Amino acid sequence: MLATLWLVSLSLPMLWAQKLINCPYKNVCQYALLSGNDVILQCNNHKAQWYFYSSLEDKLSLLNSMPNVKILPGSNLQLPNPQPSQTGLYRCLDDHKTRVVEYDIDFQDIALLHITHKELGQKPMENETMNLGGQVLVFTHWDPWQDCNRCEKPGERKRLGYCYVEEPLGKPIPCWLYLREEKVTHSRLRPELQLQACKVPCDTSTETNQPYFIFDTHQEDKTKDHMWLSCPLASIYR
Ligand SMILES: *[C@@H]1O[C@H](CO)[C@@H](O)[C@H](O)[C@H]1NC(C)=O
Repeated sequence: MLATLWLVSLSLPMLWAQKLINCPYKNVCQYALLSGNDVILQCNNHKAQWYFYSSLEDKLSLLNSMPNVKILPGSNLQLPNPQPSQTGLYRCLDDHKTRVVEYDIDFQDIALLHITHKELGQKPMENETMNLGGQVLVFTHWDPWQDCNRCEKPGERKRLGYCYVEEPLGKPIPCWLYLREEKVTHSRLRPELQLQACKVPCDTSTETNQPYFIFDTHQEDKTKDHMWLSCPLASIYR
């Protein structure tokens, strides 16, 4: 009985712990995201099939049978631990093979993340013009600041910034959707994370007693000078 209760409470946070990506019916939406953090692409059509067009390999494939993705009830597509190689077009078609929604997604490499802290006087990267077969502007498109990690006491908050390219008179495009199969490495072509100090009052309506679970216990290995701790429901988007 205790074990069942534990499982039920574990499966509930699993869903809200993931970033949901949506797009209006019949539209094509473009997103820059970060690799290594789970996302769910919404389709909301019960007889849908997902296709993936890799912009890196110039190849179209049916996703329903791929090992690294999961089709959830309602045909929403779960991408656990997405990699930069999964950058491309995700197309959801109904049973008449017409488009329900389409996502053009750039999974920017989290290993390239440029991290700065405002209070340490560290500056984010500046706009830079580059020659990528023509003069383009490379800049960081920032998400809004996320919530402060504590209340009443001094805390920190973060925001994510994605690499975008803008041609003169063109609209901005996430860097690796712009570059496609082109292999360009340049120190400006990176996503960013910025940290800032914050202090906010406690909002008692949202500060309800949060339950927590012990997933694992770990004995520190004194022979090694470093160790990895994994946080099962963590996401960089929150
Ligand atoms: C960098 O470029 C973006 C996109 O054109 C623009 O919105 C932003 O104001 C620029 N930032 C600076 C500091 O020039």
